[in-house]
Amino acid sequence: MDQLALKAIECIAGQSRAPYHSITLDRLTPIIGAEVGGIDLSQPLSEEQLTEVRRAFLENHVLVFRDQHLTVEQHKAFGRLFGELRSLPVEDIDGDDPELVVIRASAQSRFVAGETWHTDGTADLEPSMGSMLYVKETPAIGTGGDTLFANMHLALEMLSPAMQQFLGELTAIHDGEIPWKGFQPPANLPRTEHPVVVRHPETGRKTLFVNSGFTSHIVQLSGGESQTLLNMLFDLIAREPILSCRVRWAPNTLVFWDNRCTQHHAVWDYFPHSRYGERVTILGKQPKA
Ligand code: SIN
Repeated sequence: MDQLALKAIECIAGQSRAPYHSITLDRLTPIIGAEVGGIDLSQPLSEEQLTEVRRAFLENHVLVFRDQHLTVEQHKAFGRLFGELRSLPVEDIDGDDPELVVIRASAQSRFVAGETWHTDGTADLEPSMGSMLYVKETPAIGTGGDTLFANMHLALEMLSPAMQQFLGELTAIHDGEIPWKGFQPPANLPRTEHPVVVRHPETGRKTLFVNSGFTSHIVQLSGGESQTLLNMLFDLIAREPILSCRVRWAPNTLVFWDNRCTQHHAVWDYFPHSRYGERVTILGKQPKA
C-alpha cells in the first residue's frame, strides 16, 4: 500500500472517540461498522440513547443491532427518528406497504436486490440519507447472505491529492435504469447529475459519490475517459479490503447504514436457500460539493 493510503487509514483508525454510556459499541473494523448493544428498538429510546446512536452512526457509518423483535410499525418508528420515510409508488412495491421494501430471495429467484456495489437510490435528486434493513430469515444452511459495506470517505482519501482535486471539479449522471439492464424498466425512472465529490451534510467531510449500481458517466469527459476513470474508482472499492466490513446476519438483526458515505454489496452465495428482510429508507437532501 502506498504512503498516501496508509496516512488516510492511520487518520481514520487513530481517531479518538468519546466513550458511550447508554449503549455498548463494538467496532467491526477500525474503518467502518459497529455492533450496538444495550438497546431495545421496540421501546422508546431515551434522549441519551438517541444522541449516542446518532453519534455512533456518524462515526461508524453502519450500525448493527442484534436480537431485535420488531413489528413493522416499530421498525418504521425507529426509522422516523432520523427523518421522513421514503414512500414508493404502489406499482413498485412488493406487498402493500409503500414505505417497506421487501428483500427476498428463494429457489425461484433469478436475481437478488443489491448484488453489486451500489448506494441506494442515487439517481434521485435527493438520494436517501440512510436505509434500515431488518432481516427476519437467513439461509437454512446456517451461513451465507452477508452484506459488505464500504467507506467512501476513505475511498476518496486514499487517492492522490491531484486526483482528489480533479474529481472535485467533475459531475456524474446517476441513472435509475442501470439496475434494470436486461429487463423492462418501469416508466419515469429518475436520472440526475450529482458532483463526483460531495460533502457529508452532517459532518462536512468529503466523500466519493459515484457507484457502479447507478452512475453511468462523467459529464465533463469523453465516453472513453469517463469509463476508464469510473472503472478505476469502482475497482478501488471492489479490490481494496481495507475499505469494507462484512456483516453476517442472524434472524432479527437490523442494520442501519449511511447512504451519504457508504456503498454496499449483498452476497448471493446461498442459492437455492431463502433469505427475507424488510427495509425502510430515510429521505435525504440533494448532495452538495
Ligand atoms: C440492498 O438494500 O441493497 C440489499 C442489501 C441486502 O440484501 O443485504
